[in-house]
Amino acid sequence: MKPKFVFAASIDLTSVCNLDCRHCYLEKRSDRDLSDSQWIERIESLKREHPLLLHAVWFGGEPLLRRKLLVELLSRFRYNSVFSNGLLPLSGLPENCAVQISIDGTEKIHDFIRGEWTFRKTIANMLSAPENRYAVSFTINRFNADCIEETVEFFARPDAPKILGIHFNFHTCRDVSDIFGIEDVKRQEVLDLMEKLHAKHRDLLFITPTMIRDLRPTPRIYTKNCPFNTGFMVSIDSMGNRKTPCWYGESRCEDCGCCLAYEYSPKNLFHPQAAWKLARLFANSR
Ligand SMILES: C[S@@+](CC[C@H](N)C(=O)[O-])C[C@H]1O[C@@H](n2cnc3c(N)ncnc32)[C@H](O)[C@@H]1O
Ligand code: SF4
Ligand code: SF4
Repeated sequence: MKPKFVFAASIDLTSVCNLDCRHCYLEKRSDRDLSDSQWIERIESLKREHPLLLHAVWFGGEPLLRRKLLVELLSRFRYNSVFSNGLLPLSGLPENCAVQISIDGTEKIHDFIRGEWTFRKTIANMLSAPENRYAVSFTINRFNADCIEETVEFFARPDAPKILGIHFNFHTCRDVSDIFGIEDVKRQEVLDLMEKLHAKHRDLLFITPTMIRDLRPTPRIYTKNCPFNTGFMVSIDSMGNRKTPCWYGESRCEDCGCCLAYEYSPKNLFHPQAAWKLARLFANSR
Protein backbone atom coordinates (compact mmCIF):
# COMPACT_ATOMS: atom_id res chain seq x y z
CA MET A 1 0.00 0.00 0.00
CA LYS A 2 1.24 3.44 -0.94
CA PRO A 3 1.64 5.62 2.18
CA LYS A 4 -1.18 8.20 2.48
CA PHE A 5 -1.39 10.32 5.61
CA VAL A 6 1.31 8.65 7.63
CA PHE A 7 0.89 9.51 11.31
CA ALA A 8 2.98 6.70 12.80
CA ALA A 9 6.08 4.74 11.91
CA SER A 10 7.60 1.62 13.38
CA ILE A 11 11.36 1.78 13.31
CA ASP A 12 13.85 -1.07 13.81
CA LEU A 13 16.58 1.03 15.36
CA THR A 14 18.85 -1.99 15.39
CA SER A 15 18.67 -5.57 14.21
CA VAL A 16 20.98 -6.62 17.04
CA CYS A 17 19.63 -8.13 20.24
CA ASN A 18 20.92 -9.32 23.59
CA LEU A 19 18.43 -12.23 23.49
CA ASP A 20 17.49 -14.91 21.00
CA CYS A 21 13.85 -15.61 21.84
CA ARG A 22 12.34 -18.74 20.37
CA HIS A 23 9.29 -17.01 18.88
CA CYS A 24 10.98 -13.97 17.35
CA TYR A 25 10.50 -13.21 13.65
CA LEU A 26 13.57 -11.02 13.42
CA GLU A 27 16.76 -12.05 11.70
CA LYS A 28 19.50 -10.65 13.98
CA ARG A 29 22.45 -9.28 12.05
CA SER A 30 25.05 -6.88 13.31
CA ASP A 31 26.03 -5.76 9.80
CA ARG A 32 22.62 -4.28 9.02
CA ASP A 33 22.39 -1.14 11.13
CA LEU A 34 22.67 2.48 10.05
CA SER A 35 25.28 4.51 11.92
CA ASP A 36 24.16 7.24 14.36
CA SER A 37 24.58 10.06 11.85
CA GLN A 38 22.85 8.06 9.09
CA TRP A 39 19.88 7.45 11.41
CA ILE A 40 19.56 11.12 12.29
CA GLU A 41 19.56 11.97 8.58
CA ARG A 42 17.08 9.19 7.79
CA ILE A 43 14.65 10.29 10.51
CA GLU A 44 14.76 13.86 9.27
CA SER A 45 14.06 12.71 5.70
CA LEU A 46 11.21 10.51 6.94
CA LYS A 47 9.65 13.48 8.71
CA ARG A 48 10.00 15.65 5.61
CA GLU A 49 8.36 12.91 3.55
CA HIS A 50 5.48 12.57 6.06
CA PRO A 51 4.75 15.92 7.73
CA LEU A 52 1.94 14.41 9.85
CA LEU A 53 4.27 11.85 11.41
CA LEU A 54 3.76 12.30 15.17
CA HIS A 55 4.30 8.90 16.64
CA ALA A 56 7.31 6.58 16.44
CA VAL A 57 7.20 2.99 17.63
CA TRP A 58 10.76 1.86 18.33
CA PHE A 59 11.30 -1.80 17.57
CA GLY A 60 14.28 -3.99 16.86
CA GLY A 61 16.26 -5.93 17.89
CA GLU A 62 16.66 -4.31 21.25
CA PRO A 63 16.40 -0.53 20.86
CA LEU A 64 17.98 0.14 24.28
CA LEU A 65 21.25 -1.30 22.97
CA ARG A 66 21.54 2.06 21.17
CA ARG A 67 20.31 4.12 24.07
CA LYS A 68 22.21 7.35 23.37
CA LEU A 69 20.97 7.47 19.77
CA LEU A 70 17.48 6.41 20.85
CA VAL A 71 17.24 9.29 23.34
CA GLU A 72 18.37 11.70 20.63
CA LEU A 73 15.74 10.42 18.18
CA LEU A 74 12.91 10.32 20.74
CA SER A 75 13.13 14.09 20.95
CA ARG A 76 12.22 14.34 17.27
CA PHE A 77 8.70 12.91 17.72
CA ARG A 78 5.70 14.05 19.73
CA TYR A 79 4.84 10.54 20.95
CA ASN A 80 7.04 7.48 21.20
CA SER A 81 6.57 3.85 22.22
CA VAL A 82 9.73 1.88 22.90
CA PHE A 83 9.47 -1.91 22.90
CA SER A 84 12.11 -3.54 25.07
CA ASN A 85 12.95 -6.83 26.69
CA GLY A 86 13.56 -4.84 29.87
CA LEU A 87 17.03 -6.15 30.57
CA LEU A 88 18.93 -2.88 30.17
CA PRO A 89 18.58 0.19 32.42
CA LEU A 90 15.12 1.73 31.99
CA SER A 91 15.23 4.94 33.94
CA GLY A 92 16.11 8.32 32.51
CA LEU A 93 14.22 8.04 29.22
CA PRO A 94 12.48 11.28 28.23
CA GLU A 95 8.87 11.89 29.16
CA ASN A 96 7.49 11.72 25.63
CA CYS A 97 7.92 7.97 25.56
CA ALA A 98 5.94 5.02 26.86
CA VAL A 99 8.01 1.89 27.37
CA GLN A 100 6.44 -1.46 26.56
CA ILE A 101 8.24 -4.31 28.26
CA SER A 102 7.80 -7.77 26.80
CA ILE A 103 6.75 -10.35 29.36
CA ASP A 104 5.56 -13.57 27.79
CA GLY A 105 4.18 -15.49 30.75
CA THR A 106 5.03 -16.74 34.21
CA GLU A 107 8.68 -17.15 35.14
CA LYS A 108 8.94 -20.71 33.84
CA ILE A 109 7.27 -20.02 30.50
CA HIS A 110 8.85 -16.61 29.94
CA ASP A 111 12.29 -18.16 30.56
CA PHE A 112 11.50 -21.04 28.20
CA ILE A 113 10.69 -18.52 25.44
CA ARG A 114 13.26 -15.80 26.22
CA GLY A 115 16.09 -17.56 28.03
CA GLU A 116 17.12 -18.56 31.56
CA TRP A 117 16.79 -15.93 34.31
CA THR A 118 15.27 -13.36 31.96
CA PHE A 119 11.99 -13.11 33.91
CA ARG A 120 13.70 -12.37 37.25
CA LYS A 121 16.15 -9.93 35.70
CA THR A 122 13.46 -8.00 33.84
CA ILE A 123 11.14 -7.82 36.85
CA ALA A 124 14.02 -6.69 39.11
CA ASN A 125 14.92 -4.04 36.55
CA MET A 126 11.32 -2.79 36.40
CA LEU A 127 11.12 -2.66 40.20
CA SER A 128 14.30 -0.61 40.40
CA ALA A 129 13.17 1.90 37.76
CA PRO A 130 11.57 4.85 39.50
CA GLU A 131 8.91 5.93 37.04
CA ASN A 132 5.54 4.28 36.79
CA ARG A 133 5.21 4.48 33.03
CA TYR A 134 5.81 0.99 31.78
CA ALA A 135 3.29 -1.15 30.03
CA VAL A 136 3.70 -4.89 29.59
CA SER A 137 3.44 -6.48 26.17
CA PHE A 138 2.44 -10.15 26.17
CA THR A 139 2.61 -12.08 22.89
CA ILE A 140 0.21 -15.02 23.15
CA ASN A 141 1.40 -18.27 21.64
CA ARG A 142 0.92 -22.02 21.90
CA PHE A 143 3.30 -22.29 24.85
CA ASN A 144 2.02 -19.47 27.05
CA ALA A 145 -1.73 -19.34 26.33
CA ASP A 146 -2.42 -21.36 29.49
CA CYS A 147 -0.54 -19.04 31.82
CA ILE A 148 -2.20 -15.76 30.83
CA GLU A 149 -4.40 -15.64 33.94
CA GLU A 150 -1.52 -16.38 36.30
CA THR A 151 0.59 -13.67 34.66
CA VAL A 152 -2.20 -11.10 34.98
CA GLU A 153 -2.69 -12.07 38.65
CA PHE A 154 1.07 -11.62 39.17
CA PHE A 155 0.90 -8.00 37.98
CA ALA A 156 -2.18 -7.40 40.14
CA ARG A 157 -0.14 -8.21 43.27
CA PRO A 158 0.95 -5.23 45.39
CA ASP A 159 4.61 -6.33 45.31
CA ALA A 160 4.73 -6.57 41.49
CA PRO A 161 6.15 -3.71 39.40
CA LYS A 162 3.63 -0.90 38.97
CA ILE A 163 2.57 -0.87 35.33
CA LEU A 164 0.22 1.18 33.17
CA GLY A 165 -1.40 -1.97 31.85
CA ILE A 166 -0.91 -5.12 29.82
CA HIS A 167 -1.17 -5.29 26.03
CA PHE A 168 -1.90 -8.59 24.40
CA ASN A 169 -0.98 -9.61 20.86
CA PHE A 170 -1.28 -13.01 19.29
CA HIS A 171 1.79 -14.59 17.76
CA THR A 172 2.07 -13.99 14.00
CA CYS A 173 3.37 -17.05 12.17
CA ARG A 174 6.25 -16.63 9.76
CA ASP A 175 5.10 -19.61 7.68
CA VAL A 176 3.15 -22.84 8.01
CA SER A 177 6.01 -24.55 9.84
CA ASP A 178 5.93 -21.98 12.68
CA ILE A 179 4.86 -23.94 15.78
CA PHE A 180 4.15 -20.90 17.96
CA GLY A 181 0.79 -20.02 16.41
CA ILE A 182 -2.40 -21.02 18.23
CA GLU A 183 -5.38 -22.74 16.69
CA ASP A 184 -8.70 -20.99 16.27
CA VAL A 185 -10.47 -22.97 18.99
CA LYS A 186 -7.75 -21.99 21.46
CA ARG A 187 -7.90 -18.40 20.27
CA GLN A 188 -11.62 -18.29 21.11
CA GLU A 189 -10.89 -19.75 24.57
CA VAL A 190 -8.25 -17.07 25.13
CA LEU A 191 -10.74 -14.37 24.13
CA ASP A 192 -13.32 -15.88 26.55
CA LEU A 193 -10.67 -15.65 29.25
CA MET A 194 -9.96 -12.03 28.26
CA GLU A 195 -13.63 -11.20 28.88
CA LYS A 196 -13.40 -12.72 32.33
CA LEU A 197 -10.11 -10.99 33.13
CA HIS A 198 -11.39 -7.66 31.85
CA ALA A 199 -14.36 -7.89 34.22
CA LYS A 200 -11.97 -8.47 37.14
CA HIS A 201 -8.95 -6.32 36.22
CA ARG A 202 -10.38 -3.59 34.03
CA ASP A 203 -7.61 -1.14 34.97
CA LEU A 204 -4.82 -3.59 34.25
CA LEU A 205 -5.79 -4.70 30.74
CA PHE A 206 -5.70 -2.50 27.65
CA ILE A 207 -7.90 -4.93 25.75
CA THR A 208 -11.54 -3.82 25.72
CA PRO A 209 -14.84 -5.70 25.22
CA THR A 210 -15.28 -4.13 21.74
CA MET A 211 -11.81 -5.24 20.78
CA ILE A 212 -12.39 -8.76 22.11
CA ARG A 213 -15.53 -8.97 19.95
CA ASP A 214 -13.71 -7.70 16.84
CA LEU A 215 -10.79 -10.08 17.31
CA ARG A 216 -13.07 -13.15 17.24
CA PRO A 217 -14.05 -13.69 13.57
CA THR A 218 -12.07 -16.01 11.30
CA PRO A 219 -10.78 -15.10 8.77
CA ARG A 220 -9.59 -11.92 10.47
CA ILE A 221 -11.68 -9.05 9.19
CA TYR A 222 -9.97 -6.31 11.17
CA THR A 223 -6.69 -6.72 9.28
CA LYS A 224 -7.98 -4.89 6.20
CA ASN A 225 -8.16 -1.77 8.37
CA CYS A 226 -4.64 -2.27 9.67
CA PRO A 227 -2.77 1.08 9.54
CA PHE A 228 -0.08 -0.46 7.32
CA ASN A 229 -2.65 -1.79 4.85
CA THR A 230 -4.51 1.52 4.78
CA GLY A 231 -1.36 3.59 4.28
CA PHE A 232 -1.40 5.45 7.62
CA MET A 233 1.65 3.77 9.07
CA VAL A 234 5.00 2.77 7.61
CA SER A 235 7.67 0.41 8.83
CA ILE A 236 11.39 1.11 8.53
CA ASP A 237 14.07 -1.57 8.89
CA SER A 238 17.47 -1.18 10.58
CA MET A 239 19.02 -0.10 7.26
CA GLY A 240 16.51 2.75 7.04
CA ASN A 241 14.57 1.08 4.21
CA ARG A 242 10.80 0.62 3.93
CA LYS A 243 9.83 -2.79 5.21
CA THR A 244 6.65 -4.21 3.72
CA PRO A 245 3.95 -4.81 4.56
CA CYS A 246 4.70 -4.02 8.21
CA TRP A 247 6.93 -4.49 11.26
CA TYR A 248 6.75 -8.27 10.85
CA GLY A 249 8.30 -8.12 7.38
CA GLU A 250 6.93 -10.83 5.11
CA SER A 251 3.74 -12.05 6.79
CA ARG A 252 0.27 -13.20 5.89
CA CYS A 253 -2.37 -10.71 6.98
CA GLU A 254 -4.97 -13.52 7.20
CA ASP A 255 -2.94 -14.96 10.09
CA CYS A 256 -2.01 -11.68 11.71
CA GLY A 257 -2.03 -11.73 15.50
CA CYS A 258 -1.18 -8.10 15.97
CA CYS A 259 -3.65 -6.27 18.20
CA LEU A 260 -1.80 -2.99 17.72
CA ALA A 261 -2.73 -3.29 14.05
CA TYR A 262 -6.31 -3.27 15.27
CA GLU A 263 -5.91 -0.47 17.79
CA TYR A 264 -3.97 1.81 15.45
CA SER A 265 -6.34 1.35 12.54
CA PRO A 266 -7.90 4.66 11.50
CA LYS A 267 -11.33 3.11 12.15
CA ASN A 268 -10.56 2.34 15.80
CA LEU A 269 -8.12 5.03 16.78
CA PHE A 270 -10.88 7.52 17.49
CA HIS A 271 -13.10 5.09 19.36
CA PRO A 272 -13.57 6.41 22.93
CA GLN A 273 -12.08 3.22 24.41
CA ALA A 274 -8.97 3.56 22.22
CA ALA A 275 -8.66 7.25 23.03
CA TRP A 276 -8.83 6.40 26.76
CA LYS A 277 -6.12 3.80 26.32
CA LEU A 278 -3.78 6.16 24.50
CA ALA A 279 -4.45 8.81 27.13
CA ARG A 280 -3.36 6.33 29.83
CA LEU A 281 -0.28 5.33 27.87
CA PHE A 282 0.86 8.85 27.07
CA ALA A 283 -0.31 10.57 30.26
CA ASN A 284 3.29 11.61 30.96
CA SER A 285 3.98 13.02 27.50
CA ARG A 286 4.26 16.71 27.13
C1 LIG B 1 10.66 -7.84 17.93
S1 LIG B 1 10.55 -7.31 19.58
C2 LIG B 1 11.63 -5.88 19.59
C3 LIG B 1 11.66 -5.17 20.92
C4 LIG B 1 12.28 -5.90 22.10
N1 LIG B 1 13.45 -6.60 21.77
C5 LIG B 1 11.25 -6.79 22.77
O1 LIG B 1 11.46 -7.99 22.89
O2 LIG B 1 10.24 -6.22 23.19
C6 LIG B 1 8.93 -6.48 19.65
C7 LIG B 1 7.80 -7.37 20.06
O3 LIG B 1 7.55 -8.30 19.01
C8 LIG B 1 7.14 -9.52 19.61
N2 LIG B 1 7.30 -10.60 18.66
C9 LIG B 1 8.42 -11.25 18.29
N3 LIG B 1 8.14 -12.20 17.38
C10 LIG B 1 6.80 -12.17 17.16
C11 LIG B 1 5.90 -12.87 16.32
N4 LIG B 1 6.33 -13.82 15.51
N5 LIG B 1 4.59 -12.54 16.37
C12 LIG B 1 4.16 -11.55 17.19
N6 LIG B 1 4.96 -10.83 17.98
C13 LIG B 1 6.26 -11.14 17.97
C14 LIG B 1 8.04 -9.62 20.82
O4 LIG B 1 7.53 -10.55 21.77
C15 LIG B 1 8.04 -8.19 21.33
O5 LIG B 1 6.98 -7.97 22.23
S1 SF4 C 1 14.29 -9.58 22.83
FE1 SF4 C 1 12.86 -8.86 21.25
S2 SF4 C 1 14.07 -8.65 19.36
FE2 SF4 C 1 15.30 -9.79 20.85
S3 SF4 C 1 14.96 -11.90 20.27
FE3 SF4 C 1 13.49 -11.38 21.87
S4 SF4 C 1 11.61 -10.66 20.82
FE4 SF4 C 1 13.30 -10.69 19.35
S1 SF4 D 1 0.48 -8.81 9.03
FE1 SF4 D 1 -0.89 -7.69 10.42
S2 SF4 D 1 0.20 -5.82 11.00
FE2 SF4 D 1 1.18 -6.68 9.17
S3 SF4 D 1 0.19 -5.62 7.45
FE3 SF4 D 1 -0.89 -7.54 7.77
S4 SF4 D 1 -2.60 -7.00 9.13
FE4 SF4 D 1 -1.10 -5.35 9.24
